[in-house]
Amino acid sequence: MSPKYVLDPFSEKYAHRTSSMLSSEIRDLLEITARPDIISLAGGLPYTQAFDPQVILRLVSRVLAEDCAASLQYGPSDGFAPLKRSLTEIMREEGTPCLPEDLIVTSGAQQGLEFISKIFINPGDHIITEAPSYVGALNSFLSYQPQIHAIPMDEEGMVLAELRNTLQRLEERGERAKFIYTIPNFQNPAGITMSRDRRYALLETAEEFDCLVVEDNPYGLLRFEGDPVPTLRSLDESKVIYLGTLSKIFSAGMRIGWVAAPHPVLEKLLLAKQSADLCTSSFTQRIAHLYFAEEDWKGQVSQLVEIYRERRNVLLASLDEFLAELCSWTHPQGGLFVWVTLPAYIHASEMLASAIDAKVAYVPGSGFFPYRGGENCMRLNFSYPEPEVLWEGVKRLSKVIKREVALAKSLGLQGKPAGGRPHGQE
Ligand SMILES: Cc1ncc(COP(=O)(O)O)c(C=O)c1O
Repeated sequence: MSPKYVLDPFSEKYAHRTSSMLSSEIRDLLEITARPDIISLAGGLPYTQAFDPQVILRLVSRVLAEDCAASLQYGPSDGFAPLKRSLTEIMREEGTPCLPEDLIVTSGAQQGLEFISKIFINPGDHIITEAPSYVGALNSFLSYQPQIHAIPMDEEGMVLAELRNTLQRLEERGERAKFIYTIPNFQNPAGITMSRDRRYALLETAEEFDCLVVEDNPYGLLRFEGDPVPTLRSLDESKVIYLGTLSKIFSAGMRIGWVAAPHPVLEKLLLAKQSADLCTSSFTQRIAHLYFAEEDWKGQVSQLVEIYRERRNVLLASLDEFLAELCSWTHPQGGLFVWVTLPAYIHASEMLASAIDAKVAYVPGSGFFPYRGGENCMRLNFSYPEPEVLWEGVKRLSKVIKREVALAKSLGLQGKPAGGRPHGQE
């Protein structure tokens, strides 16, 4: 949206909540990194080139030939019934039983997050997230003005001792967290998967402190190694609200996600859906339904997994080759992202200008924290760039980081942590 106003003539008119609505650092970045000369490790784009356009063309033609009037029409707010059945099949693929009446279709999982925020969060309410966490979720939550408690993660997911301490402290003040938000599989941005034991323990803790659990699972089927771990929803339907999406296994452009939840919650979500956009596109729901009912979608997911596994391997190998001495990083068993930790004194946001100068881009870690944190971290994406481009991207990045390290040494800054500014106050 340009030109940008320096002084907004309408500033007196906006609702208070707009002051906590943040522009996503990632979206802003994508504008810059769309330049063809820049290698972008910043986005989170699925590799849609893997899909055969002829297949999609066939589906679109069939929808129009067989069901044109209905596909151009409004549809039920809870979703197109045949698609809802297909979505339960997708959940079954991950061992999660679900009936069509247990879910509503949304315009992407992002809309589900927005609705969850809308129906649960009063200003000042407490909610729990992982630290770091998905920026789109944080931005939805923050616009409803909660206090977010961001719980650090280790290689098994959210650190439960920290979670318990936080919930205990709240309880001592007579307060409770409304929900715990987690991305248990191949987390965005950290690439971490919550272990089986941690999942059971998280649910026990949620039970003890009377919290709902919001399980956001866009990447679960994109596993390259290791054994599948049960979804939280499959372990406890009574308090887990589950978000699914077709964005990572079929198309982000169709804008189809869903929320499975206990029925009282589902009723409130449906009211939110009706007031937001009446229904998700009848047209894309029909295309998606045909795709999952009649095409070899599991074969396509396997192909995506092969592509992403190779790219993840290349990214990890290039980090080993160029940055082993200086940085550490996660080893994702699936999904799209690797989380890199730089020396403590390097500020990834401040380094970004030099990186773009060197024609490579990443997302600075601080954007994934609600208030502060992650200043010396970055998220790298491996799903979109071709393998040789990933290698070259990390090579360029390593030169930028090495220059930054040399500069810090010459200025004697190595003992000083990058520190942080509160999120959104650059
Ligand atoms: C963890 C997480 N949740 C939700 C979304 C939003 O997905 P959708 O395209 O279904 O709105 C994303 C997208 O990247 C994501 O990473």
